[in-house]
Amino acid sequence: MAPQEPTPQQLSELKQKYTLAGQGQVFTFYDSLSSEDKASLYQQLALFDPTYINTIAAKALAPPETKDDGAAKPSLEPLPDSARASIMDSKPEDIDRWYSEGLDLIAANKVGVVLMAGGQGTRLGSSAPKGCFDIGLPSAKSLFQIQAERIRKVEELAAKKAGISGVTVPWYVMTSGPTRGPTEQFFKEHNYFGLKPENVFIFEQGVLPCISNDGKILLESKSKVAVAPDGNGGIYNALVESKLLDDMKTRGIEHIHAYCVDNCLVKVADPVFIGFSASLNVDIATKVVRKRNATESVGLIVCKNGRPDVVEYSEIDPAIAAEEDPKQPGVLRFRAANIVNHYYSFRFLETIPQWAKTLPHHVARKKIPYADLESGETVKPTKPNGIKLEQFVFDVFPMLSMSKFACMEVRREDEFSPLKNARGTGEDDPDTSKYDIMAQGRRWVQAAGATVVSEDPKAGIEVSPLLSYGGEGLEKFAGQTITAPALINVD
Ligand code: UD1
Repeated sequence: MAPQEPTPQQLSELKQKYTLAGQGQVFTFYDSLSSEDKASLYQQLALFDPTYINTIAAKALAPPETKDDGAAKPSLEPLPDSARASIMDSKPEDIDRWYSEGLDLIAANKVGVVLMAGGQGTRLGSSAPKGCFDIGLPSAKSLFQIQAERIRKVEELAAKKAGISGVTVPWYVMTSGPTRGPTEQFFKEHNYFGLKPENVFIFEQGVLPCISNDGKILLESKSKVAVAPDGNGGIYNALVESKLLDDMKTRGIEHIHAYCVDNCLVKVADPVFIGFSASLNVDIATKVVRKRNATESVGLIVCKNGRPDVVEYSEIDPAIAAEEDPKQPGVLRFRAANIVNHYYSFRFLETIPQWAKTLPHHVARKKIPYADLESGETVKPTKPNGIKLEQFVFDVFPMLSMSKFACMEVRREDEFSPLKNARGTGEDDPDTSKYDIMAQGRRWVQAAGATVVSEDPKAGIEVSPLLSYGGEGLEKFAGQTITAPALINVD
């Protein structure tokens, strides 16, 4: 049903709310709008509380750290050893134990997966959701398909170990206004990549109004507020609003893996990570890789004022980012790069309603198209004219004491290759994603005893996730010679 115009009383109440908050400009063109546009603008404005918007914008624009009032600077340290482990130097029997425990939890249907896919992929320069992107693999699989197939495979491995059938890892896919429709369509067109539709949930995060440099809510056109997704920290509110925590509860989910759509090497529902986190009985755990160099665009996992935290790359002091480890000259002191692979206990996620509104908002200065309040024309600014407000998914870390938090260092070449930039950039672009998947496949078959030959030493092998989740199950290639590039599928 098309939205209805408000009653005069409803309209005057809302106008008063906005006017009292100093945001009455959003009604500038209201009286001149068609009935339909009046209804939709009213509906959009009714979603927001202008006083709350003012408060979060003011806080975001004046965080305490920027005050030069001589207040004590936060203490920033690398994470203590007690809160971290590394796949590189853990004992093989520990890794095996975590893997086995993780698979058992998956087999008991206690593990769920949350995907953050609400970003707009501005740097990649594609208008389709990032998950639909074909990175150029021989199979032409999209990022969504690769991830879905890893879920199918891990379900299969867990079922096999437990000697049962019908293991389910539900997949909760967070999208945003711009990505929801195309994501839903893509999943339907591809038959949910072989997953059962009733175990895949595509939901939508919230939006917040864009704010001008002088604190005013911007109109994008005469009848529409300029809005932007509320950041990947919007995941918490969205899980509650979409009733997905209820779904997790009904299913008996106790352990959750959350990750970002852009990482083609992500080990979805990684049994090792689940087993590691569950055995430590922590509420949140996170995976890190070693930071490539001081300027890489990755957040850093740190200990800030005694609590786990992340310092985002857009906010770190470059001098701190470049500090060397006094114990290892030439190595960065802060090198635990955040790859946004999180473990959550369900008991922690159940507390979201108590704190979701208290998470801070961060400021992204952007060029935001806006309706000129004199002419009503939409203007495309050439320099940043306002801000978008975003919550960051990791801002919950400081809510925990170190004893409820853990960090696992993993190998970059096995677990992290994000798709951020357009082809040709040479870093974190479709070609590096493709290369990293195929180089991993090549290592896997070689480790299984195959010989790989190729004219191009960089040519790799794509191994279908349906055949192998993490390099296992490739024994039949022992002694074989494979010419790269190649695609190895299930028989
Ligand atoms: C993010 C991390 C950074 C990390 C890096 C690793 C945050 C805030 N920053 O940075 O610490 O080192 O990844 O690759 O997490 N998303 C939404 N909704 C939004 C915005 C983003 O779901 O409103 C999703 C995106 O779809 C993507 C993920 O969050 O899956 C990361 O977003 P992106 O903006 O690419 O993060 P980075 O700036 O690269």
